[in-house]
Amino acid sequence: MSTASTPSISGDISGQSVAVSRPTSLGGVLSVPGDKSISHRSMILNAIAQGDALVQGLSGGEDVISTMHCLQAMGVSIEPAGAAGSYTVKGRGSQLEEPSDILDAGNSGTSMRLLSGVLASQAFVSVITGDGSLRSRPMQRIVHPLKQMGAQILGRQNDTLAPLIVRGGSLQGIEYDLPMASAQVKSAIMLAALSADGDTVIHQPALSRDHTERMVTAMGGSIEENGLDLVIHPSKLKAVDITVPGDISSAAFWIVAGLCHPNARILVRGVGLNPSRTGIIDVLLEMGAGDGLKLVDERTEGGEPVADILVTSTDLHGVEIGGDMIPRMLDEVPILAVAACFATGDTVIRDAAELRVKETDRIDTTVTEMTRLGANIESWGDGMVIHGKSELNGAECQSHGDHRLAMSMAVAGLLGNGEVIVHGAADASVSYPEFWQHLELLVEDVR
Ligand code: S3P
Repeated sequence: MSTASTPSISGDISGQSVAVSRPTSLGGVLSVPGDKSISHRSMILNAIAQGDALVQGLSGGEDVISTMHCLQAMGVSIEPAGAAGSYTVKGRGSQLEEPSDILDAGNSGTSMRLLSGVLASQAFVSVITGDGSLRSRPMQRIVHPLKQMGAQILGRQNDTLAPLIVRGGSLQGIEYDLPMASAQVKSAIMLAALSADGDTVIHQPALSRDHTERMVTAMGGSIEENGLDLVIHPSKLKAVDITVPGDISSAAFWIVAGLCHPNARILVRGVGLNPSRTGIIDVLLEMGAGDGLKLVDERTEGGEPVADILVTSTDLHGVEIGGDMIPRMLDEVPILAVAACFATGDTVIRDAAELRVKETDRIDTTVTEMTRLGANIESWGDGMVIHGKSELNGAECQSHGDHRLAMSMAVAGLLGNGEVIVHGAADASVSYPEFWQHLELLVEDVR
């Protein structure tokens, strides 16, 4: 194992445990995988559209592969089309085939919830399940509105947990007050609403990512947006070619690494900057990252704003965040907690109770693992406070089976004083299969 003073990553990077310590400098140029949320939607929406589509830059993460396999099990032809991440999807219109076996969404909440919205209108019976984490995550939030629309859905524990059994059929439009700002729930209802009888109205409590709205509209679907209210008119979709931008949630690991390491320069190419996803950039700018965080070559690709992001070492200070900011950076809270350890003063995160029902209870797992590293961090029901600057030390950390935890701990290892051993390192593949290779590249490029 290496020591904290040598630029280092050791252990089998395809295996379960990897040791990471702070290199003297950190630098390089890389492209992160295609945006996970857009990747799921590019497969699902093109599958239920008419015509063929070429999707490029698809994420190779396990979550997206789960969606692809479920769709293939329902007769959708999805074939590689040359370059890595390029696929041809042959749309089936709104009619899928009854799957002959149980659909497996793996670790992916997006696969299970969005596909349930599709299954709700299919005239067949299907069963969808997932791994232990997914089977413990709340499904009542989609079961309730989809039943109200006319689908029959059964699940464990009074229809609240997967496996879910869905007997789809004719649906009616509903008016629905979304109880939480969730893009997965909103999208499940929208997907069902496309083939319902009558309009569906969704009242959102706050804006969550709007990739479904954008893609449905690009495919000729009819959605009216009025502030936080959405009206979905039943629509037939036309397949569209999609180039998936880089995932800002994956880029966030290198943005924080580059800002907080004392001698860093990292360029992340082609990152999607949809405003419903850029909360992490806004928060880091509020923390004083301005001099070290530059958006380069801002452009629009496939209807989504995209830029390269250049980060260099910068001093940060603590901030208070909550309210509407949280859905804009929900998946980035664990890595923000790492950044907050290197900021002066306190960083306070409120209104983030949704973190408790992610792949793990991310308030608990983040606080547990950061505490092992010596962070001065406390949690409460819907948030946490990180007292900066905390000296981070070496320790053995667990991913708890959560990809974002594994990657956040690895970045803590790149920044802190001792060697961080990340157990469950391979979990990164759920969203970012190239994560460990990219980490090595950033360390090696400056050796
Ligand atoms: C996602 C929505 C978010 C996010 C998840 C992906 C999506 O969850 O945490 O990783 O693709 O719709 P919410 O449903 O809580 O918004």
